[in-house]
Amino acid sequence: MKITLLYGGQSAEHDISIISAHNIAQSIMYDVYTVQPIYITRAGEWIKGPLIDTSLPNSDLMRLVPAEEMTWGDDAKASTGQAMRPGELDREDNIVFPVLHGPNGEDGTIQGFLEVMGVPYVGAGVTASAIGMDKILSKRIFDQIGLPQVPYHAFDHRLWREDQEEIIQRIEGSLLYPLFVKPANMGSSVGISQVESSEALIQAIENALQYDHRIVVEQGISAVECEVAILGNEEAHISYVGKLIKDVAFYDYEEKYINNRIEMEIPAILDPAVASKIQEYALRAYRAIDGCGLSRVDFFVTSSQDIYINEINTMPGFTGLSMYPVLWEKTGLTQRNLVEELLQLALK
Ligand code: ADP
Ligand code: DAL
Ligand code: MG
Repeated sequence: MKITLLYGGQSAEHDISIISAHNIAQSIMYDVYTVQPIYITRAGEWIKGPLIDTSLPNSDLMRLVPAEEMTWGDDAKASTGQAMRPGELDREDNIVFPVLHGPNGEDGTIQGFLEVMGVPYVGAGVTASAIGMDKILSKRIFDQIGLPQVPYHAFDHRLWREDQEEIIQRIEGSLLYPLFVKPANMGSSVGISQVESSEALIQAIENALQYDHRIVVEQGISAVECEVAILGNEEAHISYVGKLIKDVAFYDYEEKYINNRIEMEIPAILDPAVASKIQEYALRAYRAIDGCGLSRVDFFVTSSQDIYINEINTMPGFTGLSMYPVLWEKTGLTQRNLVEELLQLALK
């Protein structure tokens, strides 16, 4: 059986995907499978070949490409491969592992393509991927099933261009600063700003609009961030809850990947009732979006023990230091067994 690792991708989270793919490649059982890496460049070309070089210093590799440059390649790194058309993907004896984070990979687009190709693949299907990626749609669904969330306001590019003042008034009439401004479809904190004033709010919205035409503005909350991992299809398993030990205002891209400043406490020291509530909410969120394979669900927990769901990630970061695989390791599942389980789930 062959495993195709699809990685890179047309998203601002391109570089994280490369590191995730390297980590997953190290956990595949080579006595059972052969591995075919396929690198998707920032411009969307598919290149078959060995996994691309990650010997660059972390800060160079993880450089955040500005939104306006995103379709341009930094793709010299892929030069050893051979270009292919997506339709040439092997349909027989092949499981695809789409190790892609962000739009054009984690959002149902690749999943739809793989469905049409009839190739089994790891992780969420079209619906869960699309909803999980979209912060507005997922919030609407979490509201509907009664999961607690911070107050928010969502709007699109067209409304913003028509009447900025009205939108600012609505936001300021219903939410308190500090606010978080986010593009609806993105990850790894790309395009997200924390703001304290109307002026900064306008700038942050303009910045977020570079990444998506839909925006969500949220009430900022003073809380710890807790995350939990899910593995499974109809029968889903849940990990211990992990906590991020935070010493910065918020985890922006730089803190997450350049400074590697995130420490994790697993299992999180929490009131057991709070931990099991988080696990229950996570499974309800997973079911509500039609999750399958894997997901990491992220929460805020305040000092008075109030829990708010933040988001669900259907292809969570999978680097050696990422919360998802580390949560499973601490819960008792090695990365090798985790990857094997994900491959088996793709065939069910
Ligand atoms: P992404 O999909 O990019 O990970 P998140 O919604 O998780 O987006 O936001 C990124 C980070 O910003 C979070 O990990 C957290 O540190 C901070 N953050 C996001 N929303 C809020 C909020 N409402 N209050 C406080 N911090 C927030
Ligand atoms: N979007 C990043 C990779 C994460 O959720 O871990
Ligand atoms: Mg997040």
